[in-house]
Formats: sequence, structure tokens, C-alpha cells
Amino acid sequence: MKQLNQVLLHQDSKVLNLETWLETIGGKGLQNALDAPEAIIPLIKESGLRGLGGSGFPTYFKWNAIAEQVNSREKYLICNGNEDEPGTFKDRLLLEETPHQLIEGAMIVAIATNVNRIVFYINPDLTQAIENMQKAVKQWEECELYFKVSDKIQQPLEFSILSTSGHYIGGEETAAIETVEKKFPFPRRKPPFPAEKGVHGCPTLINNVETICNVSHILRNGADWYHDLGIGDAYGTKIYSLSGDILSPGTYELPMGISLSELINTYGGGMLLNKKFKAVFTGGPSNTLLTPKDLDVSLDFDSVTERRSSLGTGAMIVVSEGTGIVKRVAEYVNFFAHSSCGQCPPCKSGTYYIAMLLNKIDTGQARKSDLRALENLCDILPGSGRCALINGAVKVLESSLYHFKDEYEQALKK
Ligand SMILES: Cc1cc2nc3c(=O)[nH]c(=O)nc-3n(C[C@H](O)[C@H](O)[C@H](O)COP(=O)(O)O)c2cc1C
Ligand code: SF4
Repeated sequence: MKQLNQVLLHQDSKVLNLETWLETIGGKGLQNALDAPEAIIPLIKESGLRGLGGSGFPTYFKWNAIAEQVNSREKYLICNGNEDEPGTFKDRLLLEETPHQLIEGAMIVAIATNVNRIVFYINPDLTQAIENMQKAVKQWEECELYFKVSDKIQQPLEFSILSTSGHYIGGEETAAIETVEKKFPFPRRKPPFPAEKGVHGCPTLINNVETICNVSHILRNGADWYHDLGIGDAYGTKIYSLSGDILSPGTYELPMGISLSELINTYGGGMLLNKKFKAVFTGGPSNTLLTPKDLDVSLDFDSVTERRSSLGTGAMIVVSEGTGIVKRVAEYVNFFAHSSCGQCPPCKSGTYYIAMLLNKIDTGQARKSDLRALENLCDILPGSGRCALINGAVKVLESSLYHFKDEYEQALKK
């Protein structure tokens, strides 16, 4: 268990008192950023840090796009802690237990990109996280380093803590922008992208909480240190939300690049009741499945993608032999149907239609033509919405059809 929780969830990072944080590991990364602001983005690029909120997008690239917006005095950073997808529960821990790690990271982003407004965007159910973040922000606002950052960006740095609307869709980046503008979280059409036109028309950067939590550590220890945390060509660590038919469900920060088998058997304690491993919903329900033949896969963005899946948020929902895949996928698609904001008819009706067909198959009332209809929807629906919700709903369906078509066929009416 040597490699468990070595950075973000390490005891040193779990500090609620700012003085203690600054006396131990805190403040050094921020000081390095203040000393050499122009070196921040190149260092983040060299480190290979990627977005940990689902996409794996290179972090430096988004920061550059904001830094390049030199004509705007107002710029926003939204630290995305909406975390409402079933099976994902990592950001909650970071917000509750490591508020200073997050705030210091966000301040470094501000120096790198000249952002002057930082919004901590938190799921309303996380009341302890909201309380701890409020207390932590207050402590920073009275700290000398905070005034140094304001001096560096040549205007007061403003923090706010926003409890989100509590909708899953509110985590989508443009829906988050709408929420910050006090509107219903309807995703916006892109372009324009948030980097050009976000909150109140100002350049806006949206990063996941876990992504930002890595920043002060990279500034303090360097890119090589970050590389060495991972295995092989995979860099850094990843926090997994491990749940399902597993002996020890929980939140585990592990080196990027450990195998799926290690995650399940070493850290997760193996399968519940000694049952056989059937599959894992990898990266959450809006994603794809890995199966027994993938137990050797390295859990890093590129290796998982090579197996027709993706690492996503690191949510891992394990299912054992005997669990019906069709029923499980029906439940997830039903969640997406209820979460769809309804702006795009193919998404609203498509998700409901898929959920209805899945339910029909699961209850033995479907015919071959229903299965063909599902396959047809997999071809026509992706890309038909403003945001990626519809793509996620189709992804999990398509992946289940790829791996478990026999279960669908067996459930059809004879
Ligand atoms: C329906 C939907 C919900 C999302 N919910 C979240 C969320 O709760 N938290 C999050 O960080 N990203 C969420 N995202 C992804 C964000 O749009 C965005 O890509 C992410 O916050 C960027 O952060 P990163 O680059 O650090 O990963 C969601 C996307 C979609 C389509
Ligand atoms: S794809 Fe779905 S959730 Fe996204 S904007 Fe359109 S209707 Fe709303």
C-alpha cells in the first residue's frame, strides 16, 4: 500500500488551518509562482498535467488560451466541484479535507493567466465542503501571500463560493457559466468557447477540483517529480472512486498507470463474496466498460483509450457475474434522460427512447426490431446535442452492446 494517497490525499495535504498548511508543505509552490510567473505555464506543460474532470485535456493548453486574452481586465476561473454523476465521489473529499491545497492551486492559476475572479463551484449537497471552503478562503484573505498575488495581477483577487443548482448538467462547463450568471444551467452552444466568452462575456477557465489540487505540488517539486509519481509513460496520480461489487469500496489516490487488476484486487480487496469479476463501468456511467480481458490494462488516459474505453473521472463501478448489464445500463440512461436539460430534442427524446427500449428488453417484452432501433440510435445520436450529455448516454449503451450483445439477444421475445 506504499503508493496509496501519496500527494493529494496525503496527511500533509489534509489541513484545515492555513498556518499549519504554510508551515508544512503549503506556500512554497505559490512563492515559486510569484517569483517566476512566466515559468508557470511551461512547467505545467512539461509536467504533462491533464484535466482530471473527465476529458484528460492538456491543462496548459486551456491556461494558455486564457493567458492570451490580454485585452480583458476581468477573467474568471471556475473550480468545478459539481460532482453529481453516480459513482463519482473524489472531489468531495478534496473540498472537505484539503481546502488550502485547492485554494493555493487556484491562486497559482490566477498568476499564470491573470484571472482576477475565482469561483469555487460546489455541489449543494456537500455542506461540510462548503463550510470548510468558506473558512479556508477567509484565512487566505487575511494572509500576506494573498495580497502579494493581488499585487502581481495588479487588481484585487476575488474569491467566491457558489453552491451549484444541484443538477448533474450544471457540471458541464458552459452550464456552469450560466449558473455563475445566476441563470438555469442550460449548456451554451460552442463556439464561442469559454476562453473567449464566458461569465458575463469575460474569458473563463473551467478546471476540475482534482486538476487544480495538483498545481501547488508541481510548482513546489517540479515536472520530473510529477512524472516519477506515475508508472512508465503515465504521469502523476489519479483519484479513483471505487464502488460496486467490491470488498473495500472507497476513494484511492494511486499512481497513474497501475493496472485495473491491482486497483480491484490489491486496493479494492477483491470481489465481494468471492464472485467473478464481470465488468467495470470505467470513468463513470457516461462512459464505457472494461471486461476480464482488460484486467491487465494500465489505468492511464492513453492505454485505456486503446481498449475502446476512457479513464474519465476515475469512477470505477465494478460488477460481478450474475449482474444483468441491460438493467444496469437502463438505470444509467434513465438518469441521463432525467438529467437532460431539454434544449436539444434529439437528446431529450433520444435518451427517453433509449431508456424505454432498454427497459422493454430487460423485462422480456422486446423484439429484434427494438434491438436494431437501439443500434441505429447509437449511430445517429452522438453529436446531436449542444453538450456531451447525449454522447455519454450513447457511449455506455454502445459499449454494453459491444461487450454483452449476447445478453441483449437472450432477453428478446422468442
Ligand atoms: C453533463 C456533464 C457534466 C459534467 N460534470 C462535471 C463535473 O461535475 N465536474 C467537472 O469537473 N467536470 C464536469 N464536466 C466536464 C466539464 O464540462 C469540463 O470539461 C471540466 O470541468 C474541465 O476540467 P478539467 O479540464 O480540469 O478536467 C461535465 C461535462 C458534462 C458534459
Ligand atoms: S445535449 Fe442534452 S443536456 Fe446537453 S444541452 Fe442538449 S438537451 Fe441539454
